[in-house]
Amino acid sequence: MTNDAEIVLDAQSIAKSFDRHVVLHDMSLSVARGELVAIIGPSGCGKSTFLRCLNLLEVPDAGTLRIEDVTVARDHRGGWSREDERQAHFLRAHVGMVFQSFNLFPHRTVLENVMLAPRTVKRIAAQEAERTARELLAKVGLSHVMERYPLTLSGGQQQRAAIARAMAMRPAVMLYDEPTSALDPELAEEVLQVMRALDDEGMTQIVVTHDMRFARAASDRVLYVEGGHIIEEGDPDLMFANPHDAKTRRFLRTLL
Ligand SMILES: Nc1ncnc2c1ncn2[C@@H]1O[C@H](COP(=O)(O)OP(=O)(O)OP(=O)(O)O)[C@@H](O)[C@H]1O
Ligand SMILES: [Mg+2]
Repeated sequence: MTNDAEIVLDAQSIAKSFDRHVVLHDMSLSVARGELVAIIGPSGCGKSTFLRCLNLLEVPDAGTLRIEDVTVARDHRGGWSREDERQAHFLRAHVGMVFQSFNLFPHRTVLENVMLAPRTVKRIAAQEAERTARELLAKVGLSHVMERYPLTLSGGQQQRAAIARAMAMRPAVMLYDEPTSALDPELAEEVLQVMRALDDEGMTQIVVTHDMRFARAASDRVLYVEGGHIIEEGDPDLMFANPHDAKTRRFLRTLL
């Protein structure tokens, strides 16, 4: 990443505890427009919590988060004011989130799933929302199933629909929490293809993944997280071939 690259998402010193259990210690991440960042690490290290903090699905205890032109700053003493909630609302509007379990609305067709948020949240006219939804569904290869209900689709198709749904809000950054973990390899590959295509178009993406092959081949940067710390980050090929930190090395060895 060059210095003059435009930073879309800037998280500084994010900390989060549940009760007295510190889950994130001082995590910082700046992501340039168009970057694809992969976050890896052992189960329970805080990957999902960090991702959820980037969307303010979890409110960090401390730290500063900026996405595009919206900043939310936290410190341990401050409460969560109505103004914070207002800023959080604007910030979330810049973020698309995709979960392991798809989370589509089961009683709505695929097309309706993709149209819903633009219609209700952004008050986009039906015709325009439908045009955009059809374009996005074509892009993820689902034109032929868009009148169907999610549960009649394969997992890979459902996940691609979930990506189209998130993209319909025109996010500045897409966050994915293990988007392929529930899928068989060939269905996972369909989803990864969509993420690569979005990357080619210049979308900014952050993905928590256990798929090391994808992290290595497709990402611009890998973050290794352990115990709520970013232990190491860097170029995927360099890091996988020659991890600097003993913890990273140990983790990567356990995967072989
Ligand atoms: N809402 C919550 N309340 C209490 N503890 C939580 C909560 N969410 C997460 N934790 C704890 O925070 C720690 C980190 O969890 P997190 O889900 O972020 O890990 P992860 O790296 O995503 O793990 P995995 O690879 O298994 O998904 C765990 O010890 C978990 O039990
Ligand atoms: Mg997780």
